[in-house]
Amino acid sequence: MTAHLPAASGSAEPVSASGGPTTLVTGIGELVTNDPTAGPGPLGLVRDAALVLAGARVAWVGPAARAPVADRLVDLGGRCVLPGFVDSHAHLVFAGDRAEEFAARMSGQPYAAGGIRTTVAATRAATDEQLVANTARLVAELLRQGSTTVEIKSGYGLTVADESRSLAVARQFSTETTYLGAHVVAPELAADPAAYVALVTGPMLDACAPHARWVDVFCERGAFDADAARAVLVAGRSRGLGLRVHANQLGPGPGARLAAELAAASADHCTHLDDEDVTALRDAGVVATLLPAAEFSTRSPYPDARRLLDAGVTVALATDCNPGSAYTTSMPFCVALAVREMRMTPAEAVWSATAGGAAALRRTDVGVLRPGARADLAVLDAPSAVHLAYRPGVPLVSGVWKDGAPRVTAWAAG
Ligand code: NIG
Ligand code: FE
Repeated sequence: MTAHLPAASGSAEPVSASGGPTTLVTGIGELVTNDPTAGPGPLGLVRDAALVLAGARVAWVGPAARAPVADRLVDLGGRCVLPGFVDSHAHLVFAGDRAEEFAARMSGQPYAAGGIRTTVAATRAATDEQLVANTARLVAELLRQGSTTVEIKSGYGLTVADESRSLAVARQFSTETTYLGAHVVAPELAADPAAYVALVTGPMLDACAPHARWVDVFCERGAFDADAARAVLVAGRSRGLGLRVHANQLGPGPGARLAAELAAASADHCTHLDDEDVTALRDAGVVATLLPAAEFSTRSPYPDARRLLDAGVTVALATDCNPGSAYTTSMPFCVALAVREMRMTPAEAVWSATAGGAAALRRTDVGVLRPGARADLAVLDAPSAVHLAYRPGVPLVSGVWKDGAPRVTAWAAG
């Protein structure tokens, strides 16, 4: 681990932006860079590759035979390396679970937005410590499965105090925090939805905006209509928040078109789109974030990824991790579902789970491995990234670096 690697002929000295020790990660059978200038295809594949990490950043990427010297050496023995997954849609701050609701659904009950209120009650009753511990557990699960960036939403508090504490908890784990006070109308204001929208766009926004980077709204029958959703998004934007929309999940509706109208970063779910929705998303440059674990766990038809891709829409994949519609932290599972059930190619699914997620969060420093990018890597116990879909359910992620530090190191023992 600490040996020096002799410089191969023609190699360059690594640049250490941090001035600290550099690490040469070599023996990479297949490297997914997502940098088309580094290798063929959108994945920018490099075979027999190496990387140099300097502090929290990537300093060099290329063929192992041309690798520069570094202070430390890690040999991955032919394993595949890809950028850490970017999970751009997750609801991690909650208490309790809804296993009985899931079992009932698998016995024939339909999924309904109203189940969210069960989790709202449990979340309000939880202590701060319980919320932090549950979020930490889920973030650790995500990391173990290769996710190095995760967006975290509020949305199970629905009071000023409970939404702002949810975001304060989320902030402990991610800079990608999203204010989702407009998840459903709070139960105590069910008879007066306009009053709830006034709360969400007024005092609740005041309390939440300092902890949030994004604002999101569940624009769906049973949650918020187009006018209410527009009011929430415009209010958030006026406080400097970026826009995301839960759109067209349970049926056709105005969410995707609203996301396009307001040039949101992402329209999420996109399960029920018409041709005009698809064109509007493409023309406005809105990323369509697909969440196949939600269709899996609600036994619903999957979104038409091919139609979006063929129309030229940027597609992201994310978990939607939440206790109601998709209780998974596994991006590899989502990649496998996208390939098998949504007719994405393995390369498209891997791109969407990494670079696509970065696009949905408007990040250029993650989801890609090139000099200057964040040193966030996932190592697979497999020779290529195709294995993520080819070997579903197998825990292939055997190593993870986040910000240049090894966080999961099963490969080191083997
Ligand atoms: O994205 N659609 C809205 N929110 C979540 C589900 C939340 C829940 O059922 O608790 C989703 O699927
Ligand atoms: Fe969601």
